[in-house]
Amino acid sequence: ATTLGASAAERGRYFGAAVAASKLSDTAYVTILNREFNSVTPENEMKIDATEPNQNQFNYTNADRIVSHARSRGMQVRGHTLAWHSQQPGWMQSMSGTALRSAMLNHVTQVATHFRGQVVAWDVVNEAFADGSSGARRDSNLQRTGNDWIEAAFRAARAADPGAKLCYNDYNTDDWTHAKTQAVYRLVQDFKQRGVPIDCVGLQSHFNSGSPYPSNYRTTLSSFAALGVDVQITELDIEGAPAATYRNVVADCLAVARCNGITTWGVRDSDSWRASQNPLLFDGGGNKKPAYDAVLAAL
Ligand code: XIL
Repeated sequence: ATTLGASAAERGRYFGAAVAASKLSDTAYVTILNREFNSVTPENEMKIDATEPNQNQFNYTNADRIVSHARSRGMQVRGHTLAWHSQQPGWMQSMSGTALRSAMLNHVTQVATHFRGQVVAWDVVNEAFADGSSGARRDSNLQRTGNDWIEAAFRAARAADPGAKLCYNDYNTDDWTHAKTQAVYRLVQDFKQRGVPIDCVGLQSHFNSGSPYPSNYRTTLSSFAALGVDVQITELDIEGAPAATYRNVVADCLAVARCNGITTWGVRDSDSWRASQNPLLFDGGGNKKPAYDAVLAAL
């Protein structure tokens, strides 16, 4: 096939992009999006500060815009994200204890219910583990409500949208030997053993000189998959967009049956949250880069 999405579909997978609602009126952007991708992740529009700016006042305008753009064109939607320490609205940042636990669970329930049946997979919890070698949970207001906050969020999401795949998503969980990767692995293993609902693990895969693509990436993907979950590459971008690295990432995913999709974190370099790294498959003018050709050839 001649596009990313159609080629991925031939391999039983999707190829997605993070999308900003504000760019749906940019015709050059939308032309590439509609031609190349068959999955979208709202880049910011489903986050807690966007969907519940005031407690119990929900705003789905921009998220609905993206969902409707995608679904009317046969693209899947990945929901991102229901519970996270970052991009919390002010009211939530200042909460703690049982009040915060209830507010978090209410948020998960309300948002997952609003989008029930429209989102193929949810990043239920994002970035709950600490960086470095401790393998510990990240300290956050959510973590301080009790170590069981992650499973509580997953159970609430399952109850609200039983048909959606429920994912745990994180960064720097690509190197199999990294303590954070091992800690996420143990969480998923524990959830599977105890029957806590979890269906997938998202590896953000923001690769740069500080956290490069690791040679054991395929081992990480296959090790998670062996726990009985799907694995998705959820926020891929690579500093400088070397064609060989993009090719390796695609080959690693294709080598693991349960690696069922890849999402790049934006469309063009100019859309990227790390635009100065030129990390994506299209340049600012919308032209295909060498990395694009490498990905298409590898799919
Ligand atoms: C980023 C967005 O791309 C930016 O527009 C925003 O200012 C900050 O968040 N990990 C995640 C994503 O899970 O939600 C982040 O997205 C990038 C890192």
